[in-house]
Amino acid sequence: MNDNLLEPMDDGLVMRNSQEYARDKLLIIERYTNRMITSMRDRPWRAFFYIDIEAGPGKNLFVTSGEVERGSPLIGLGAKFPFTHYRFIELDQANCDTLKARVSASELQECVKVWHGDCNILVDEIVNEIQEVDRPTATSYNWHSLNLAILDPEGLELHWETVEKLGRMKRMDMIFTFWTSGITRNANAWIEAGSTEKIDKLYGSKEWQRIYRPVAHKNSTEKRRVLIDFYKTRLEGLGYQIGNERVFRNSKNVQQYTMFGACKHPLGIKFWNDVIRGLPQSRLAGF
Ligand SMILES: C[S@@+](CC[C@H](N)C(=O)[O-])C[C@H]1O[C@@H](n2cnc3c(N)ncnc32)[C@H](O)[C@@H]1O
Repeated sequence: MNDNLLEPMDDGLVMRNSQEYARDKLLIIERYTNRMITSMRDRPWRAFFYIDIEAGPGKNLFVTSGEVERGSPLIGLGAKFPFTHYRFIELDQANCDTLKARVSASELQECVKVWHGDCNILVDEIVNEIQEVDRPTATSYNWHSLNLAILDPEGLELHWETVEKLGRMKRMDMIFTFWTSGITRNANAWIEAGSTEKIDKLYGSKEWQRIYRPVAHKNSTEKRRVLIDFYKTRLEGLGYQIGNERVFRNSKNVQQYTMFGACKHPLGIKFWNDVIRGLPQSRLAGF
């Protein structure tokens, strides 16, 4: 087994080029994952799914420092205690092939499925599997699977319908990376041109326009606030509580994305807020 493939080091395969500000994203995913699985592993959940539907190649290269960190799928595989199922989707062929190569070095490889394609289509495969596991039986009606979904898109490509499918599972904690820059930059022009499909799909309807129009000509901070809050409202409609936000800015102090956790159980929110609160102080500079 080639350990280099799983460790945070250059193994000669494809890596995702990342900016320094993405380090905390990985740290947050790692800490939440470990907290959740460590606390929950001894209870009679039927299965533990770690779901990463825009998984990337498995490693990040930080372009300014040259350092390498594990990406979210390898973070899941390296969790303090293993999940029973790992389900990864990646659209880019090279990223997907690379992720498969890295997964093949894991002793958990039998628990992993990696799909090449669009998460908005392939999510059904995962949902079907979970529903099968969760099907009520005469003897263990009260327990079902415990699941974590990493939702880390590059922009606006993650459809609400996909999030909703995952969110309708009995217990699906979610970690979101939510990009607003693609909306704040383009929404006015797209509304004007009547071509808002991308944002409509992100929110699952055109209703976002109702809350966006009053701030359409305000500054991006105000726009961002209503856009994020509206998304959270959608999640609350699925029965979710939302954890504290973590805002990410680039070296020019321009806001890139916001992370937040969502969970149907208050304990998950406590875990999330502890993770956000516990980030190293040095990393908070500039935020
Ligand atoms: C932000 S990156 C994920 C990074 C990863 N979480 C990590 O920690 O390294 C988003 C990934 O989603 C992939 N992607 C983009 N659109 C997708 C889609 N519709 N379905 C599945 N993957 C997609 C991209 O190729 C990219 O690798």
